[in-house]
Amino acid sequence: MDWVRDFYSTTGGWWGAAEARITDRDRRRVALIHAHRGNARPGRVLELGSGYGATAAATAQAGHTVTAVEVSDRADFAARFARDTAPGSLVVLKEDFYAVRLPGRFDVVCYWNGFGVGSDADQRRLLARIGDEWLTPDGVALVDVANPFVWAGWDGDEEHRLPRPELGYHHELYERTSFDPVTCTAVDTWWSATDPTQRISQRLRCYTPADLSLLLTGTGLVLDRITVGDRTSAPTASPGLPELLREQHEYLAVLRREAGRA
Ligand SMILES: C[S@@+](CC[C@H](N)C(=O)[O-])C[C@H]1O[C@@H](n2cnc3c(N)ncnc32)[C@H](O)[C@@H]1O
Repeated sequence: MDWVRDFYSTTGGWWGAAEARITDRDRRRVALIHAHRGNARPGRVLELGSGYGATAAATAQAGHTVTAVEVSDRADFAARFARDTAPGSLVVLKEDFYAVRLPGRFDVVCYWNGFGVGSDADQRRLLARIGDEWLTPDGVALVDVANPFVWAGWDGDEEHRLPRPELGYHHELYERTSFDPVTCTAVDTWWSATDPTQRISQRLRCYTPADLSLLLTGTGLVLDRITVGDRTSAPTASPGLPELLREQHEYLAVLRREAGRA
């Protein structure tokens, strides 16, 4: 996982000017928190891998007390949201979520668009922390999971992105996507036109809902529901869901603590 800090800091330097702002995506995520929690009452929310902090800020603006943990320099962008979090509040910790110590428990733990870094054992370590240390007994964890079917379909794709300074994108970049069917891992590689020899990649382990359920075994968490696009269903009773085959590169896993867990 040595690549994590460097990859997200470098790409954050390329894209942060354009992307560190609250958009409809962040407001949709806040609506998902309220829908899966079953109410919109102010609560304690922990956001893992919070990137620039836009979703965390939108969550605070909805009235919640938010703690966000982000290891890369993307965390530095969150300062721009600091004065505008009422009626809630936001604390951003520039730390590794495998090591960070956090006081108290949370009604909601979110990990938007980031789960799958490292080995299966690493994911299980993180899931166990969510279940054992961070969630309240009736809390809910919302975790975006990379969908293998769509990522596999992107294998071999290359894109050339031209600068769009009017939108805050100042770099000419290339992206190549590949997919390893043996380890079920997507590899997303980027380089700048000014230095094609310096390539950086993110590697994301993808899980079907059935494989995610297996991964959860012993972590204290169970897969309660999945949200795919705008549809929420039980993970075992989802006839069809064609969006999972071809459209949605990730789905939202709704996790709860196993009944009877101390
Ligand atoms: C794909 S980005 C998504 C950022 C944000 N959640 C969003 O949706 O815009 C994943 C983020 O998780 C962060 N991350 C990955 N591993 C981490 C760790 N061990 N501790 C803290 N942050 C981590 C990365 O630095 C990166 O900013």
